[in-house]
Amino acid sequence: MTAPASTSFIIVAIDGGAASGKSTSSKVLAERFNLLHVDTGSFYRGVTAEFLRLGVAAADHAAVVAAARELHFGTRLHGRSAAMELGGRVVPDAEIRSKIVNANVSHFAAIPEVRAALLAYQRGQADVARAHRFQGVVMEGRDIGSVIFPDADFRFFLHADPTERARRRAKEGHHDSIAERDRIDSTRKTAPLACPVGAVSIDTTRLTPAQVVETLAAPIEARLPAP
Ligand code: DC
Repeated sequence: MTAPASTSFIIVAIDGGAASGKSTSSKVLAERFNLLHVDTGSFYRGVTAEFLRLGVAAADHAAVVAAARELHFGTRLHGRSAAMELGGRVVPDAEIRSKIVNANVSHFAAIPEVRAALLAYQRGQADVARAHRFQGVVMEGRDIGSVIFPDADFRFFLHADPTERARRRAKEGHHDSIAERDRIDSTRKTAPLACPVGAVSIDTTRLTPAQVVETLAAPIEARLPAP
């Protein structure tokens, strides 16, 4: 017998470049459908902050690999969002959004061993969501629909004009060279930023945040009625 739609666990994958609209819409979808919100960019940022704290440079491959082996992950829930613990400590938001992390995160994220160290942890967020009785997971990043959850129930790829994205970041008060990060993220060999085959691609340049949410929510709503 098929389980009723309201009891089925769903995975929503949202990929896209910096300031493409992923975070804002993921958070709203999490609230609307009782999903665990997982921002995998914050995971790469947390790991980057840790490497920098240890004095490990992205160019020193052996040191990065050794440091990656020593990472001990945990998850703490902040409302509906999953925050990564490293050695029992959540790296504060101010630290993971700092200028130095912005400048370094793409370099660490391009290293296959760093990505491998985070792979099982990211997939494990679905178990965290189940254990806490969420209806599913909405996970945002660069390779969610291609590598982490290629069989996700919903896969979206958001993109927007670079000028518009720079304007959004400036409005948030962040100093972030998003064009440079996107260049590194899109050209790396392992899991580059790209629209996964079969994902729904949405240009958010001229859409309001509410319109982006409605575009993403429509197919989910059709399958999973809001509580
Ligand atoms: O989403 P964000 O801009 O906070 O992500 C920070 C960096 O982390 C981004 O420049 C590339 C990397 N990242 C990644 O390589 N893969 C992911 N799934 C998420 C982020």
